[in-house]
Amino acid sequence: MWWENAVFYEIYIASFADSNGDGFGDIEGIREKIPYLKECGVEALWLTPFYPSPRVDNGYDVSDYCAVDSQYGTIEHFKLFLEEAHRNQLKVIIDVVFNHTSTEHPWFIESASSKNNPKRDWYIWRDQPTNWESFFGGSAWQLETVTNQYYYHSFAKEQADLNWQNPEVKQAIFEVLLFWLDLGVDGFRFDVINNLTVDNQFRDNPNEETGEQQHLYDVNQPGIQSVLKEMIQQIKEIKSDIFTVAEISSDSLPIISEYTRDGLFDTAFNFNLGSIEQLDLKKLTNEFKKMTEQKGRPTFFFNSHDMSRSWNRLAKEDSQVYQLLAVFMLINRGIPFLFQGEEQGALDYLPQSIKDVRDVQAKNKYQQLLSSMDEEQALIQANQVNRDRSRGMLTWSAKSDMGWIGQSPKNPEGEQILAVYQQLIQLRKSEGPFGTVTGITLENECLSYRVDKLQIVLNFGQQTTEQIFEDAAQTIFGTGRVSSNGQSVSVPPKSCWIGKDNG
Ligand code: NOJ
Repeated sequence: MWWENAVFYEIYIASFADSNGDGFGDIEGIREKIPYLKECGVEALWLTPFYPSPRVDNGYDVSDYCAVDSQYGTIEHFKLFLEEAHRNQLKVIIDVVFNHTSTEHPWFIESASSKNNPKRDWYIWRDQPTNWESFFGGSAWQLETVTNQYYYHSFAKEQADLNWQNPEVKQAIFEVLLFWLDLGVDGFRFDVINNLTVDNQFRDNPNEETGEQQHLYDVNQPGIQSVLKEMIQQIKEIKSDIFTVAEISSDSLPIISEYTRDGLFDTAFNFNLGSIEQLDLKKLTNEFKKMTEQKGRPTFFFNSHDMSRSWNRLAKEDSQVYQLLAVFMLINRGIPFLFQGEEQGALDYLPQSIKDVRDVQAKNKYQQLLSSMDEEQALIQANQVNRDRSRGMLTWSAKSDMGWIGQSPKNPEGEQILAVYQQLIQLRKSEGPFGTVTGITLENECLSYRVDKLQIVLNFGQQTTEQIFEDAAQTIFGTGRVSSNGQSVSVPPKSCWIGKDNG
């Protein structure tokens, strides 16, 4: 399949490229950047939601699934962009948010209008709330005063959860998928798709020992997989090479893997690896080992619009470590997902004042913290979970007007980092698709593994390391020095080496 060796590139549209100078990225902006994306070597683009939305959660609160938000352009702009992407052999996958709609979606407005409305049952209404907590903090239930019932929202209160028990909802969503398939998109990224169904007895969630809520009855409910299978089957029947990637709100590999079984998604985001808080090589190696046993191809990424950038979080601003992570991600058997700006080592953006914070989750956190600390401390702590960090506006020219959000600081080593990413992507193209990973070893902070005919040595340590091979190999990337018989290599501190079997 086309996606097995592809390098994906996530575009967080509002912060990517602004074609008309209004401070918001837009679809024309992406189209203008196609030559740049081609130069980088990426082969598929993932566009975050661009549908009409009140943007409480920056587009993940959709008020019309089959249109383009005027802030980003028009459907004509989208078609033009798609055509040009395809002309340039770039595939395009779009983000679909089917767990919830905006409370401004006409479906919700109808549903909320009366208990007898035909769409009442399209959402989840109750007289009494459960103790379920929203993933953005606070109760997941909101009292709606017209009918005096609570509706369920697993995220912000402006994002009401659809009721997937209702066959009409399934049908309506299938029609949305058909609409975009018809326009020619190449795949879908399914937002928090494991949240789709909830316990039909509405049991309260238990608490962990730490006091934190255990999400037992509001995610991964029995029966969810058959709903998903049905949906995937329908779209694959229409376009067999359509690519489907699931976002599962979990960093546990066994849970994530449940969603890539036969007939389910082609792959799912491996948060077990991608969202690690710091560079813990033991954890990284363990997760990596488990991922090679996973059926199908896992995903490899260290950045997204939901987390601090890996330049700050993992590499701690060290370009050598950053390069090692790039090798690991790109020269591997999984599907790599880059996030805009990563290829130039973009830095976290940190708002200096609460009025500059845009992320709904960070705003909620700030409000909660104010009850126990002063504003300055609350901002510092809210910034620790602030998703704005990776959403800073990318700068493409010297001009630096403030957009809808502040700018992502540029990395002074950006050009060199880009050159490395380009080289690695080319290497992946010429040597891949990779089949089998073997020999994963972590010794003295040096991670090494084999993919097919390639031997990869990533020395994260402070000492030069010596590696011995059974088969002689020649250097194809990196700074390791191969011995004269070709059967061992010495790799300097914080450096890498990729060798290829001779013959
Ligand atoms: C996951 C998305 O990546 C995130 O940005 C969003 O806030 C939630 N899903 C809710 O849709």
